[in-house]
Amino acid sequence: KRRTRICELLAGEGLGEDVEVRGWVRTNRVGKNVAFLAVNDGSCLASLQLVAAPELANFPQICAIATGAAVVARGRLVESPASGQRYEVHAERLEVVGTSDEQYPLQKKRHSFEYLRSIAHLRPRSNTFGAVFRLRSSLAQAVHRFFAERGFLYVHTPIITTNDCEGAGELFRVTTLDPAAPPLVAGAVDFSQDFFGERAGLTVSGQLEGELFAQAFTDIYTFGPTFRAENSNTPRHASEFWMIEPEMAFADLMADAALAEEFLRFLCRHVLDHCREDLEFFNEHIDRELIARIEAVADSSFAMMEYAEAIDRLRRAPVSFEFPVQWGLDLQTEHERYLTETAVGGPVFVVNYPKEIKAFYMRQNDDGTTVAAMDLLVPKVGEIIGGSQREERLDLLAPRMAELGIPPDSLWWYLDIRRWGSTPHAGFGLGFERLIMYLSGMENIRDVVPFPRTPRHAQF
Ligand code: 4AD
Ligand code: MG
Repeated sequence: KRRTRICELLAGEGLGEDVEVRGWVRTNRVGKNVAFLAVNDGSCLASLQLVAAPELANFPQICAIATGAAVVARGRLVESPASGQRYEVHAERLEVVGTSDEQYPLQKKRHSFEYLRSIAHLRPRSNTFGAVFRLRSSLAQAVHRFFAERGFLYVHTPIITTNDCEGAGELFRVTTLDPAAPPLVAGAVDFSQDFFGERAGLTVSGQLEGELFAQAFTDIYTFGPTFRAENSNTPRHASEFWMIEPEMAFADLMADAALAEEFLRFLCRHVLDHCREDLEFFNEHIDRELIARIEAVADSSFAMMEYAEAIDRLRRAPVSFEFPVQWGLDLQTEHERYLTETAVGGPVFVVNYPKEIKAFYMRQNDDGTTVAAMDLLVPKVGEIIGGSQREERLDLLAPRMAELGIPPDSLWWYLDIRRWGSTPHAGFGLGFERLIMYLSGMENIRDVVPFPRTPRHAQF
């Protein structure tokens, strides 16, 4: 017999038939001659009501079922006379698989996100985090669908690497355990060894390896975990996050921006069409303008401005910023939010940044001072995508690396690929967590990752 899910039963599948229900009890309302149990199995936001009558042999035990218990029930799926739900199940058998008690940390009331972070092992059973992680799963599948439909090759780039793609010195070092050290004791691990005699770290980006594959398969993308040893505590930065990085050969910055726009609009359309119930929940409880904003973005074409113009508009802004605004300085979150929320009122590409504040691999523009970089900024989140056209000309790349003190032998393969069949190429990185924040309205990156890793939070 097929395993039925509560989302299907709540859609009326199997009406009038005998069905099996498995899940975790959210509430148990016991009346004189009946118990009503709301059961959730994570397949959707809503819970299914089980109705248990005194005729059941274990009725006294059923009345004592506490929130959080796991149950399996069999019974008939019928239309519900109660308001607020269309269907319910009249239990003919109801078995407690795993008991719970009044110490269960997820009681039926509003808990703060901070408290829920401290119970990351249980928060997936709450309404908000159920919605977040269903959205996350659905978006991951949509990412693959987008690229598969367009013929992009999916490549797995290494997680252990020796290159610091962004050049920001944010690599975590990887070590092996000392074989001579005493056997592992929890809490007393010796991490002093290097990676089998070599120095290696955890990747900050799969881009450089992705570029190599683009020079063979034309259109490729990566989608995997990336790590940054950035010791900053903000609601938008994590030490471990997932990134989607497409890379296209025979493409320039404008083709790159066009792909980024098409991608983000596709993902907006995807959640509107496939994650409706969860979006409505976020819209009601997290951000009242969420659905309207996503609908507008799905149907709009994005604004674009030069970095120089962005600086100009920020300098003329009738507000005062905490951080200085000046040509040559990077944009801070407050600047990004002003540009998207006030100046433009929607997503905006900022392009052609000063080369000093961007990575070594970006293509130099003819003005000698800027590079073909592009950041996509969106309301509330700020930078959601960072990308660029890459420097494909060996005679410009090699001296630029030398200027920045990057030893050529550390990236000999990256230079090599420019010697034979080099093409203009471009790509970008979309931060997956920032995307989920944008499409759920959740304001802290710790609340869109199952088990967030941030400074001083290696475990929970
Ligand atoms: O702008 P970034 O650093 O660009 C790169 O890594 C390029 N190699 C991408 C490429 O061109 N293939 O990072 C890209 C995106 C950011 O726009 C942001 O959304 C996200 O990754 N991101 C982070 N997300 C969460 N926590 C962090 N610490 C992040 N750092 C970057
Ligand atoms: Mg960036």
